[in-house]
Amino acid sequence: MSGIGLPKVRSGKVREVYEAGEGRLLMVASDRISAFDVVLDQPIPDKGRVLTGLSTWWFDQTSDLVENHLISADPTDFPSTAGREVAGRAMLVRAARPVQLECVVRGYLFGSAWSEYKKQGTVNGDPLPPGLPQAEQLPAPIFTPTTKATEGHDMALTAEEAVDLVGRARYEELRDISIAIYRFGALKASLRGIILADTKFEFGEADGRLMLIDEILTPDSSRFWPADEWKPGTSPPSFDKQFVRQYLLDTGWDGTPPPPPLPETVVEGTRSRYVEAYERLTESSFDDWYGVDE
Ligand SMILES: Nc1ncnc2c1ncn2[C@@H]1O[C@H](COP(=O)(O)OP(=O)(O)OP(=O)(O)O)[C@@H](O)[C@H]1O
Ligand SMILES: [Mg+2]
Repeated sequence: MSGIGLPKVRSGKVREVYEAGEGRLLMVASDRISAFDVVLDQPIPDKGRVLTGLSTWWFDQTSDLVENHLISADPTDFPSTAGREVAGRAMLVRAARPVQLECVVRGYLFGSAWSEYKKQGTVNGDPLPPGLPQAEQLPAPIFTPTTKATEGHDMALTAEEAVDLVGRARYEELRDISIAIYRFGALKASLRGIILADTKFEFGEADGRLMLIDEILTPDSSRFWPADEWKPGTSPPSFDKQFVRQYLLDTGWDGTPPPPPLPETVVEGTRSRYVEAYERLTESSFDDWYGVDE
């Protein structure tokens, strides 16, 4: 049992997951932030609400494309023991059996894909045209799945390795759905002046059906760049964790715990980037999301 009166199923880097009965879970997003798979000491105020608010909005937007796990983010639908403090940061969802693949889609060449390409001209083992600069848009979005590591870093998989993990038919289904949601998200974001550089989806099985689980198209699971500041060959500024990652890299930290503390300016800068991502994408005020004034 826990402070919110439900049995805790697991505690992830960002979320606490509780059993809510009848095949349902209550997923509560904290304000914790992780970078390079290490949870930092300072929370980012409002981050959990941004992630939940944005995921809820995208689940609704994409519901014709793919089924998802969301039952409700309305606190009046939560088990009565869950207090008001979870309002805005919690989602009641269908409990699913997670697919053992992180479904990454990339529309631009950046991050670990850029590192691999720079070294050997490939991304997840597949060759790309030569001479592409960092942050360049790819000819078409590519599916670059990784392992779902229980500890440490997720590892890039070749298509064959991913097929071995989940089977060919399932692999192709995950690839096609993931690319379709990426295309939809990228189009929506572009209308708001935001580039969706890359993103990660998680899928699960429940009631014998495949569905989208976890979070979707948030600053934690995606790279969002302001379109007017994107320039191939450079590292664009972003509405996501890249701001924190860059600060940590600039301190010379090598990624092994403990992480350096974040100065107040970095905490506040990160908060405002997350809130801006929410407001630009949803075209609504973050103040109107559940729980903000409570
Ligand atoms: N509908 C669902 N059914 C079952 N598990 C889910 C569902 N939605 C999300 N999850 C799992 O709940 C967890 C969410 O917690 P969180 O986001 O904090 O984890 P994480 O930091 O991404 O990863 P880690 O598991 O390494 O801590 C993830 O492991 C995710 O796969
Ligand atoms: Mg997660």
